[in-house]
Amino acid sequence: MKSRFFAKNLMAWYQKNKRGLPWRDTRNPYFIWLSEIILQQTRVQQGLPYYLKFTQAFPNIQALAQASEHEIFSLWQGLGYYSRARNLHHTAKIIVQDHHSVFPSTYAELLQLKGIGPYTAAAIASFAFKEAVPVVDGNVYRVLSRFYGDETDISRPAARAHFMRLAQDLIPSDQPDEFNQAIMELGALVCTPKQAQCSECPLSIACFAFKRDTVYFYPIKLKKTIKQDRFFNYIVFHTSKHIYLTERKEKDIWQNLWVFPAIESDKLLNETSFLNKWKHPLLTKLDTFSTGWKQTLSHRQVYGQFGLLKISEKDKINIENAFPGKWFPKMGISSLPKPVLMNRFLKAVKF
Ligand code: ADE
Repeated sequence: MKSRFFAKNLMAWYQKNKRGLPWRDTRNPYFIWLSEIILQQTRVQQGLPYYLKFTQAFPNIQALAQASEHEIFSLWQGLGYYSRARNLHHTAKIIVQDHHSVFPSTYAELLQLKGIGPYTAAAIASFAFKEAVPVVDGNVYRVLSRFYGDETDISRPAARAHFMRLAQDLIPSDQPDEFNQAIMELGALVCTPKQAQCSECPLSIACFAFKRDTVYFYPIKLKKTIKQDRFFNYIVFHTSKHIYLTERKEKDIWQNLWVFPAIESDKLLNETSFLNKWKHPLLTKLDTFSTGWKQTLSHRQVYGQFGLLKISEKDKINIENAFPGKWFPKMGISSLPKPVLMNRFLKAVKF
């Protein structure tokens, strides 16, 4: 009874209020997969140009599988978390090689693929193949916990299965795709974390939290994600034409991305301690010391400080001998995959 009300009102609202988005006009599982992976990284408006670039550069899964990692990383620039891009490439190759380029079509099969978890598998299975499996993401936790007054702690891994069961009772078997899009859209546009638009909500008359004025009490999240701090002290060697970068090879954040040579510290340093930390004969002074750069990752807060030093063309060889890395023309580094922190710095600083 309650479930009929929920689906009917939700989907009627969606038909009137949905945003026209290109991945909603397709049943192509490859396009849907691309959109969902991009949207895990960023908001819809910021994700749109990436989706358009990717579908244009790689119009089918074979094209993505055949691309070089470098090409994929270049298009991914700015989204961060490159392991998602790496998994995308890996999975494209697996589908081409092991599945004759045919995208697996069930929730259970999709879950077997690298980088495709329960949320993405449900999105592809329902949007492309109309399988009645509910998507559960942050929007869905919020909508359902408020509607039912459900106090399940969403920081516990068991929460997903619990909310999947709740949603499974609501999802209509003939329109699972519309239902899933609609519940996410309601979470994105109306049932938002702050300043929820309850007066616009098609579910409010039956919503547990709305009726008690406890909307912002939900969802319950007991454990805060603890963020570990990292402090990178970068040295920016440059000449009038060239700049010195190194590729991060360690199995750590930013693997295979290009950065300036760096030393980590356990706190922010002032200029003197920065130079002491490097303790290198080629580094006795800096031209500029640039501090206050920050990037937030899912489990980390990363701080960057940059010491700039202009050197002469003839000293380039000394840098190469002393620090691992390569010289690049300054104009040529924009296509190199780099962490967001580096891109921000490079965009703001003139050499
Ligand atoms: N966020 C994640 N997936 C989405 C989708 N398919 N449409 C809109 N926003 C989304």
